Amino acid sequence: MSKLKWWQTAVFYQIYPRSFADGNNDGIGDFKGATEKLDYLASLGVDAIWLSPHFPSPNWDCGYDISDYCNVAPEYGSLDDFKTFLHESHKRNIRVILDLVLNHTSDEHPWFVESRSSRDNPKADWYVWVDSPPNNWQSCFDGDAWTYSPERGQYYYHYFMKQQPDLNWHNPAVKQAMWDAVRFWLDMGVDGYRLDAIGTIFEDPNLTPHTVPMNLAGLRRFSDLAKTPDELTLKDKYWNDMFKNQWGQAGIHELMKELRAVLDEYDGDRMLVGEDDNIDYMGNGKDELHLVFNFPLMKVEKITPGHIRQNQQERLGRIENLSAEKGWPCNTLGNHDSSRMYTRYGNKLHGPELARLHAALVLTLKGTPFLYNGEEIGMTDYMLTDISQVKDTMGTWYYHAIVTDMGVHPDEAILRTAEMTRDKNRTPMHWTSGTNAGFSSKDANTWLPVNPNFKDGINVLDQEKNPSSLLHYYKHLLRIRKESPALKEGEYLPLHDEAGEYFAFLRQCAEQTVLVVLNFSASTLELDFSSIKEINAAKMRSIFSSAERRTGEIASKFKVSPFEVLIAEVNS
Ligand code: GLC
Repeated sequence: MSKLKWWQTAVFYQIYPRSFADGNNDGIGDFKGATEKLDYLASLGVDAIWLSPHFPSPNWDCGYDISDYCNVAPEYGSLDDFKTFLHESHKRNIRVILDLVLNHTSDEHPWFVESRSSRDNPKADWYVWVDSPPNNWQSCFDGDAWTYSPERGQYYYHYFMKQQPDLNWHNPAVKQAMWDAVRFWLDMGVDGYRLDAIGTIFEDPNLTPHTVPMNLAGLRRFSDLAKTPDELTLKDKYWNDMFKNQWGQAGIHELMKELRAVLDEYDGDRMLVGEDDNIDYMGNGKDELHLVFNFPLMKVEKITPGHIRQNQQERLGRIENLSAEKGWPCNTLGNHDSSRMYTRYGNKLHGPELARLHAALVLTLKGTPFLYNGEEIGMTDYMLTDISQVKDTMGTWYYHAIVTDMGVHPDEAILRTAEMTRDKNRTPMHWTSGTNAGFSSKDANTWLPVNPNFKDGINVLDQEKNPSSLLHYYKHLLRIRKESPALKEGEYLPLHDEAGEYFAFLRQCAEQTVLVVLNFSASTLELDFSSIKEINAAKMRSIFSSAERRTGEIASKFKVSPFEVLIAEVNS
């Protein structure tokens, strides 16, 4: 019997509610649609859902600007619809965690409306107010970080858009109000939270200005045009220098401890996963976050065996040596903020093979995997071609900044905008090859255009019918993972550290040892594991292969096909 908690062995699946399934044919995803798809998720084999924000919001940042923390956006349904979704998920043994946005609210949240109404109202100090901008800080989405409010005759601070004012977390009343909202959903039975942008909650108390010789629009443009190694290094330095005083400041640990204490009041192992890769936010292993994402794994242009080994070496040792209790890793290769995995790590020649390889990576490494909706059918980025289609406000802001202030030609500006916005990876899910990819009925005008490649087999229904589809591959791999104690719980032991073309490792626990080989090359490789003691004295049996390999015994020397994923059980 596993001693691990449910969130350690679970596979999570992120639902981006606006784009997942439209149950009432208004072109926007909703709970009715999502609930109808729960059988699909159960058949896929996922154990938990991370639901991106489903709260009422004016949608300047697609739901990450919340105007009521204890309700459901009307376009997604009612609170009862949410309860049905939660209940039906639990009925299928699928847990549900919500998105918790702590740093800021919407400027339409009643807390902010009251706060900005005067300098002496009861919530006057709930946000970060100053008489005049004290420095040159930028918002990471839309220019100056200080915006004037005529009602109050003062400026408020916002790390994100001006419609997302930062809460003043030094004020205990803010904490109380937010913890009440946290309890509201925990009382209803949700299983935990993904914590949004925790690094941005506190700012440098000295308000130290940044030293970058340009503003946000200038830096984005500089980044677009940077080509030489020196320019690329300078670009990274500028991004860091521009925001380092607004990020990762003192206070976050204490706050995470308070929030953890709220979660720990509840039974059922409720959990927290932070949108941050800083292992320090796991505290001593039992007093802050349960998980933080391994973003360094995915934040590269290309995933190579060397990169994975180095990443695992850097993180696992630290995670396992927290002072009170061992921590647990958490891996992902995509979410609603990043280019889709298929596009980002694929190439024109070997897209399908690479998609399988990367899926296997995230599902076999030690740790809790997070998948992003649509990844399992190989959805790709979709580049918008007209500024009127763009919904991601950071994109429209940038477009206008470069066209109006910098004289960039609109044709170039839309290319840059389509590339930088997150609309490209948020288009509606493809369910069928019918109109609107079965996301909405044919008459509906979907909130973002549907990527036309749904007609080329990139949809659930076609792939369900095709045993060699990517969807079947995911289902198979998820089943193998579920049945394998070593893949769920085992320790990670890297093999053949020098290999540049393939990544091989063991996962070992008391009941089982498995060997995983991921061939990142387009060549057939002859591999020899006879010097590995765990393998030498053992018999190996293939339990999963992406190539045409038959399951059955294999020797310690064997060949792997180009891009093959091989999982073999090692019996001593
Ligand atoms: C997080 C979210 C992102 C959002 C931002 C502000 O990074 O993932 O989508 O825009 O926080 O809330």
